[in-house]
Amino acid sequence: MTVADPADHNDTGPAVPPGPQTAVPRHVAIIMDGNGRWAEARQQTRAEGHSAGVDNIRLVLKHLEQRGVEFATVFAFSTENWGRPPDEVSFLLNLLREALKKEVEDLHQSNVRILHMGRLDGLPPGFREEIAAAIELTARNTGLTFVVAFNYGGRAEIVDAVRRLLSDGISIDDLDEEMLSGYLGCPGVPDPDMVIRTGGEFRISNFLLWQSAYSEFYSTPAPWPDFDAEEIDRALTAYAGRQRRFGKIQTAS
Ligand code: IPE
Ligand code: IPE
Ligand code: MG
Repeated sequence: MTVADPADHNDTGPAVPPGPQTAVPRHVAIIMDGNGRWAEARQQTRAEGHSAGVDNIRLVLKHLEQRGVEFATVFAFSTENWGRPPDEVSFLLNLLREALKKEVEDLHQSNVRILHMGRLDGLPPGFREEIAAAIELTARNTGLTFVVAFNYGGRAEIVDAVRRLLSDGISIDDLDEEMLSGYLGCPGVPDPDMVIRTGGEFRISNFLLWQSAYSEFYSTPAPWPDFDAEEIDRALTAYAGRQRRFGKIQTAS
């Protein structure tokens, strides 16, 4: 068996020049994977890998904003990640909670608007309040929108949306794609133009199932703590070379 070269999957080749719509993605969504393997390769603990991963988020946000990206969504903890050993789960929850506390003021000063996607139930009440306070504090900011997908799963999100649709008494005739979209995650946030996965896997792992219908997928072998400015630029360059067709036929412009 040959190991897939990620470049084979990411490069769309030079045949078609990029269309004007593909210059810079407006919304980049990232599956921040590979913290554990990054740590193991350094004889460090998985916890140290997660700490390094959280430390990397600010750098990535700054660089994306500098490059003209308006929305950045990061997958921080999935509904399936509860299935990890309890020690790792509680370490991750605490780490992310502390990071939010530590960074929220600085993010606010940087004009970043914070949003959350995912289920709040199941989280400690204090944490839920801190998330709500961060969203409220930054609600009127006009810089980068930073969406944290935390306790998030794409299937759970769709089930929750359908539950709310039913309880609102929406009739079958009124239900269409636009209406269901409005019940999902973060109304007002456009679908991601690009989904980046670090850590080398080629799977979506229950991330933004609905919203990524036409996102450009990019996978890099770099584990999340190593995903730096150079890596971001490589991903953005690949995006600029893609031709998005949305099911239609490309016409010469
Ligand atoms: C991503 O890193 C962080 C979370 C899923 C919370 P992993 O912990 O999945 O790292 P690997 O995939 O085991 O290397
Ligand atoms: C996806 O990574 C979830 C997050 C990055 C939060 P996982 O490590 O959980 O995904 P799988 O298990 O490799 O599919
Ligand atoms: Mg992983």
